[in-house]
Amino acid sequence: MTLTNSNFDDIRDWDTQNFMHPWEGMEDQADYQRTFVEGGEGIYVTSESGEKFIDGPAGMWCVQVGYGRNEIANAMAKQAMEMAYVSPFSNSNSASAELAHEIAKRTPGDLNTVFFTTGGSTAVDSAIRFVQFRNNILGKPDKKVVISRQKAYHGSTYLSASLSGKERDKGWLDQAEKLTYFLPNVNPYVRADGQSVEEFLSEKVADLENAILEIGPDKVAAFIAEPILASGGVIVPPKGYHKRCLEVCRKYDVLYISDEVVTGFGRLGHWFASEGVYDIVPDIITCAKGLTSGYVPMGACMISDQLVADISGDASQGAVFSNGFTYSGHPVSAAAALANIEIFERDGILEHVRNVAPVFEERLFALADLPLVGDARGQGLMGCVECVAKTEGNQLEMDHEVGGMIDAHCQKMGLLLRPLINMCVFSPPLVIEEAQIHQMFDILGEGIKRTTDDLVKQGVKLA
Ligand SMILES: Cc1ncc(COP(=O)(O)O)c(C=O)c1O
Repeated sequence: MTLTNSNFDDIRDWDTQNFMHPWEGMEDQADYQRTFVEGGEGIYVTSESGEKFIDGPAGMWCVQVGYGRNEIANAMAKQAMEMAYVSPFSNSNSASAELAHEIAKRTPGDLNTVFFTTGGSTAVDSAIRFVQFRNNILGKPDKKVVISRQKAYHGSTYLSASLSGKERDKGWLDQAEKLTYFLPNVNPYVRADGQSVEEFLSEKVADLENAILEIGPDKVAAFIAEPILASGGVIVPPKGYHKRCLEVCRKYDVLYISDEVVTGFGRLGHWFASEGVYDIVPDIITCAKGLTSGYVPMGACMISDQLVADISGDASQGAVFSNGFTYSGHPVSAAAALANIEIFERDGILEHVRNVAPVFEERLFALADLPLVGDARGQGLMGCVECVAKTEGNQLEMDHEVGGMIDAHCQKMGLLLRPLINMCVFSPPLVIEEAQIHQMFDILGEGIKRTTDDLVKQGVKLA
């Protein structure tokens, strides 16, 4: 739908002149030309010129049930016609109440209190604000520090961005430094030479315990962790890490917030990976993205009944949780999320992911044999291939170049990737079939080989 009879050159100009994109590079924003994605069906998207691609990153880890789902579009249209908007501050709506109930049925333990937000960042922000609020009521106003990890990504509000541990994103923006603490990288790929994965695991768990002791348990409110660090490069912590970290948190009265904005809603074959994959019941889970399969924005944090009970009724001192959004529990988003959950149930999406994940993982790990590949890692339908070409010059520039070359080769062969500098990250729609997984990895492998040939021709050394 457009308001004007414009040609595509005009649209390109408006994109560069009027649309400031997330993570906009200020040096070249006036000329940076993006691929326009204008259509989608199943696991495929099409560009403005009609080229068809496998959508490697499923939008941005979000289009779980694939594109072109009439059921979701119709549910949204029906809700918009019946009742487009209700203020969640003073009223309620059947779609939002039903969705809260459906989410609560699927969360682990007693995480039955659902606080709706507008996306993942606001879910994380609201979770942290709830933890602060609770400690204020409990008479622990100094218990406020939240421990996060290097390479974590938790969002783009001031608080959630302050908890993100991607150094390259922090250089030019302010942070709430007094409220945060960062643990070292939990990626086994970077462990010291000669260190076993088991020793690395113990070291990473000790990092958390030592941090709590250093800051003081009376000052540490929570530990926040993505089960798999997604935007940090699909970092899978060593087996047993989450369970042992939860034990440390319990020992020191530190809450455990599991940020499942990416891993929630089926990415690892379960509604929530915390319990389904890692056998833990955290105190709070955050989710977004897959909740509506990306059809419309929505997020939520699910809080344990116990945490809420501790500060309710007589214990509340009349406190009000003065946090929320005009669009908390938006009826149209709730209708989309309900239709999305119905598709998951009807089509057995979780079982499907569990069935095809071994094929995905086998093809992914095999890429580690290619000379350009330093590490190939992932789990479920999340994968990352980290490519390493050494240079005596500017390594960051070389890393960007390698990622860009692989991306360009793969696009020519019909695969969209998400290049994170020198890491190719992919998390396709969950409905991807086994044959399509093979097709995706065939293209990726070929893209890496062609890039290798180009680099060798340029005289670049491979790691
Ligand atoms: C783990 C995690 N948390 C939070 C967010 C922020 O979500 P949003 O971009 O919807 O605000 C993201 C986004 O990628 C994420 O990956």
